[in-house]
Amino acid sequence: MDDDHGTTTTTTTRTIVHTWLVFTIIFPITIVIATMIARARTIPPKRKRRPHDKLLQPPPVSEGAPIVGVLPAILTTSGGLQAVIRDQYLKLGSVFTLSSLGIKVTFLVGPKVSAHFFHGTESEISISDVYKMTVPIFGKGVGYDVDNDTRNEQHRFFAETLRPAKLRNHVGLMVGEVQEYFARWGQCGTVDLKQEIDSVLLLIASRCLLGKEVRDHMHAEVSSLLHDLIGGLHLVSMFFPHLPTPAHRRRDRARARLGEILTGIARSRKSSGRAGDDLLQGLMDSRYKDGRATTEAEVTGLLVALLFAGHHTSSTVTAWTAARLLRHAEWLHAATEEQRRGGGVPDYDAVLRMDVLHRSVKEALRLHPVTPMILRRARRAFAVQTEEGQEYEIPEGRVLASPLVVNNMLPGVYRDPDAFDPDRFAAGREEDRAARELTYTSFGAGKHACMGEGYAYLQIKVILSHLLRNFELELVSPFPETEGMISMRPKGEVMVRYNRRVLQ
Ligand code: HEM
Repeated sequence: MDDDHGTTTTTTTRTIVHTWLVFTIIFPITIVIATMIARARTIPPKRKRRPHDKLLQPPPVSEGAPIVGVLPAILTTSGGLQAVIRDQYLKLGSVFTLSSLGIKVTFLVGPKVSAHFFHGTESEISISDVYKMTVPIFGKGVGYDVDNDTRNEQHRFFAETLRPAKLRNHVGLMVGEVQEYFARWGQCGTVDLKQEIDSVLLLIASRCLLGKEVRDHMHAEVSSLLHDLIGGLHLVSMFFPHLPTPAHRRRDRARARLGEILTGIARSRKSSGRAGDDLLQGLMDSRYKDGRATTEAEVTGLLVALLFAGHHTSSTVTAWTAARLLRHAEWLHAATEEQRRGGGVPDYDAVLRMDVLHRSVKEALRLHPVTPMILRRARRAFAVQTEEGQEYEIPEGRVLASPLVVNNMLPGVYRDPDAFDPDRFAAGREEDRAARELTYTSFGAGKHACMGEGYAYLQIKVILSHLLRNFELELVSPFPETEGMISMRPKGEVMVRYNRRVLQ
């Protein structure tokens, strides 16, 4: 590997490690704390109980020591927080509250009790209360800095730029990046596949999201700016986002420079009349309902939001799928045979036809969701009824969690839930459809379901299909553990020995 590649890879790795620290460890913990503060300021007055209202119990609360509650259990149980959530589900049922240091989080497990969580309106079930800390990163005027109506319009822009007709053209670009990247591998060798996947995904993001100008001339600079941007999100940022710490200063400089770069590109495209084939162009061409065009600042913010939402998630899922396929010889064989039948370099339709690979990715994501739980805050009290007919009232202001680590393993939904079995999603079984869209929520569901699911599958499948067609692969490090009690990334290196081949 040449020096340039090495530098980019190191930067990328640092970026990813940081992203994960932020999004998986610091983020959920701080949300809970930040919510307590927000609660004092924003909770609407208590709903008056009407005379005919049934008196409902609050959800059962986990037992624990006074004040510290479940904290000692989380710190001492093998498997930490995730194990504690599973235990409490088995003990208390599908709706329960974990409490520690005066903070209460109510968990809603499984489809039956999750409809309001995923479908409630912002005034009932708030997502913005838990994502406010992204504002200095994404920038003003986008995402969680704007009112709900504007955010909905901006989500429409995402939906339009990520719709299948637009993605069709991206497959060629993705394939080009993947071919060029893996052409640097030798005839045989050993690599950390996790790191390699990070690097190639960053190149795809550079090309497909930000455009040819960035990819050809500014990839290294933009990668390093992203690193600084993410590095500016610390615990302290939640409470004092503008405190002049070195990390915040680097974040603000990086955000400003990224704004300059993307604004410059947008202006040059407008003045030359030249259009790009990327998401940048899609967002530049987006229009609000009143006909107003997106501003350059909005376009930059929306692109940064997409990079945040799409990069580390896809990277994690690709690494887990590769590890799973290399661990399970029968599925590696099935996925390789599918590639053999599929012929040469794939186009959009060929990628969609890769059914075994698709189900393998989906199954890896079931076993290794990118986040252990999805969070919200109840702005109004509401009632839930469990499978067993028990009804509870969830109080307003309560932090809510939908724990993917439990939902994805429910024995009533998934047969032999610990097994890697992509066939569970095949026609005839379709275990993910048992309770329609609320059964499989690894991409979220309802109002805030992932808008990049199609894009994610495309890039993941393009990378894995290239690897399967061009290399014999063998996992030479132990099958990875999960990084931590909150971070769901594979822990450490995923060392893979490769041998170039031509699949006939
Ligand atoms: C395998 C990769 C991915 C996984 C597992 C994933 C997972 C998720 C999940 C669980 C949510 C819901 C979060 C919540 O409800 O709080 C979400 C939302 C979102 N995702 Fe993804 N995502 C992936 C890739 C992508 C990509 C590639 C993009 C765009 C290029 C993207 C764009 C978004 C956006 C814009 C939202 C916010 C939707 C909203 O708030 O209404 N995601 N994703």
